[in-house]
Amino acid sequence: MNMEKCGKSAIGKWLIQLREGKKPDFRPTNHYLFEAVELRGLLYTQPELESEFPGIFKNSALPLVLDVGCYMGHTVIELAKHNPGINVLGLDVKYKRVVKSCRKIKREQLTNAKIAICDIRELVPILPEGSVFGMLIFFPDPWIKIRHHKFRFLNEEFFRELFSRLSRGGFIWIKTDHQEYYEAVSDFAPQCNFTIVDRLPDKVEQREYRTLFESMFLQKEIPIYQIICKKGTASPLYRATLKSS
Ligand SMILES: C[S@@+](CC[C@H](N)C(=O)[O-])C[C@H]1O[C@@H](n2cnc3c(N)ncnc32)[C@H](O)[C@@H]1O
Repeated sequence: MNMEKCGKSAIGKWLIQLREGKKPDFRPTNHYLFEAVELRGLLYTQPELESEFPGIFKNSALPLVLDVGCYMGHTVIELAKHNPGINVLGLDVKYKRVVKSCRKIKREQLTNAKIAICDIRELVPILPEGSVFGMLIFFPDPWIKIRHHKFRFLNEEFFRELFSRLSRGGFIWIKTDHQEYYEAVSDFAPQCNFTIVDRLPDKVEQREYRTLFESMFLQKEIPIYQIICKKGTASPLYRATLKSS
């Protein structure tokens, strides 16, 4: 296996080595990693996604929604359960988080939900054009210091790359507790040909999809900002609703 395939950050590298039966270049101690090895068909590495996508779901013809930074799988489960007409792929970069997400999917016996361990910045470039219907990005790390802004993955370049991967009418839904990050996205999204709308497309049940981080912020009375960006022009309904708000 060409290790370059798992990207510069080498997220999931140890899992790739163990799954391929290679002698790992480390002494494995993380028990989540061992559990991850056994979750083939539910938990994907980036090279596995690259070779098997979109056939990873029982019905690969359904629209695909990604939950980026899925943490312990809360939103993946809620989304998949309430929307049997879509496929949901949750992504995270930590073994414990992806394994716990997989446990929940197994428990709920959901066939329209899968998990991947990979960095979204490395996944987007390998996704086929028009293959993604939606992307949820709830509470991405805001990298508050100006000298750290370069680590933010929500930027103009990412949005431009994502635009072509989205299908027509596709959407990106962002929630954050960080006002300045929210304002930055609101500024560059229209320049990347997205229209800012006030509701999800009809294919997705309109629910709050409240995450663990969101509950934590709300408990501390920290304001939450959200933005839904749609590929394509807004319908007259969207425009009318936005005008009156
Ligand atoms: C602040 S937490 C929010 C978790 C969850 N979305 C929520 O709202 O409760 C951010 C999550 O994004 C994951 N993450 C950070 N950078 C990522 C990247 N480049 N690709 C995929 N996931 C990432 C982290 O591991 C973490 O689980």
